Amino acid sequence: MQLRHHDDDHVPVMAREALNLLQIKPGGIYVDATVGMGGHSQAILEKIQPGGLLIGIDRDKESLEKAQARLKPFSDSLRLFHDNYKNLPLILNNLAIKPVDGILIDLGVSSYQLLSPERGFSFQSDAVLDMRMDRTQQWNAADLINNSSEVELADIIYRYGEERLSRRIAAAIVQEREKAPITRCSQLASIINRVFKVRGHQAIHPATKTFQALRIAVNEELHGLEDFLSEAFSFLKSGGRIVVIAFHSLEDRIVKRAFRRLAGQCICDQPPELCRCPRLPLGSLITPRPITPGPEELAANPRARSARLRSLEKV
Ligand SMILES: C[S@@+](CC[C@H](N)C(=O)[O-])C[C@H]1O[C@@H](n2cnc3c(N)ncnc32)[C@H](O)[C@@H]1O
Repeated sequence: MQLRHHDDDHVPVMAREALNLLQIKPGGIYVDATVGMGGHSQAILEKIQPGGLLIGIDRDKESLEKAQARLKPFSDSLRLFHDNYKNLPLILNNLAIKPVDGILIDLGVSSYQLLSPERGFSFQSDAVLDMRMDRTQQWNAADLINNSSEVELADIIYRYGEERLSRRIAAAIVQEREKAPITRCSQLASIINRVFKVRGHQAIHPATKTFQALRIAVNEELHGLEDFLSEAFSFLKSGGRIVVIAFHSLEDRIVKRAFRRLAGQCICDQPPELCRCPRLPLGSLITPRPITPGPEELAANPRARSARLRSLEKV
């Protein structure tokens, strides 16, 4: 199937909800830790005039360049950084900015990345199996597929894809790569297809979960996320809010846990008398349950369907 860009590629997910929760005010200082194509950034920039500042980060240089062009009218109120958001503390310290009024983190992969065939994120493309969000990173998905052991592959596919057939898929990959290296998305997709053919019809494309797992592993998307959320939170003003949009349950679980811990709630499975969770609330949960997109947004933008938004306010 031919991949192409759609007009809605650049429509930010749950923008109205995110902006309302961030309580954006003119003159405020905000962080967009995942600028992507700049949709949320633009909406924030419009609301912080006059005198506000937005610090924007993305590890994808090409996305950032596109966002920079889009946000040109706001260049006086914008500082963009090609970096991993985990370096936010360093960035803010270097700018001598502390604290900030609000932080937005729209996790995961952008539709620009997914739909750009040459980036190698999609099982529907024939591109090199790349999947790096940051193309200056040394290793890509093909390296992972060809150099990991069968056990490591099965573990990645199971943990990050929640794929029940992880072991069979890993075995099929190892069998195939003994003949020749696996270098293209289509090649990997057909190996996975063959594993599933034996199992009959599937509701989603058989390669969906394995590709998600590889993408998460290549970009170390969940690695250190919980600690990063706590650290980012420490840069907020009292009354400032952090808003996180997650796109799958693995991510959302981490966000939920981090926020509950910061809100002084129990995050262990122990009975109350054995619980040792810190109970000092540093924040208050604005969304005890995640917010999901409304029917209008879902009708206009089906790719928003798995979004889960959570927010925490610094006390
Ligand atoms: C869902 S998109 C964001 C879309 C954006 N909010 C918009 O309105 O266009 C996620 C973005 O986060 C970036 N990203 C993911 N992990 C990152 C990380 N650890 N550091 C910096 N950027 C990251 C990706 O490159 C991608 O552009």
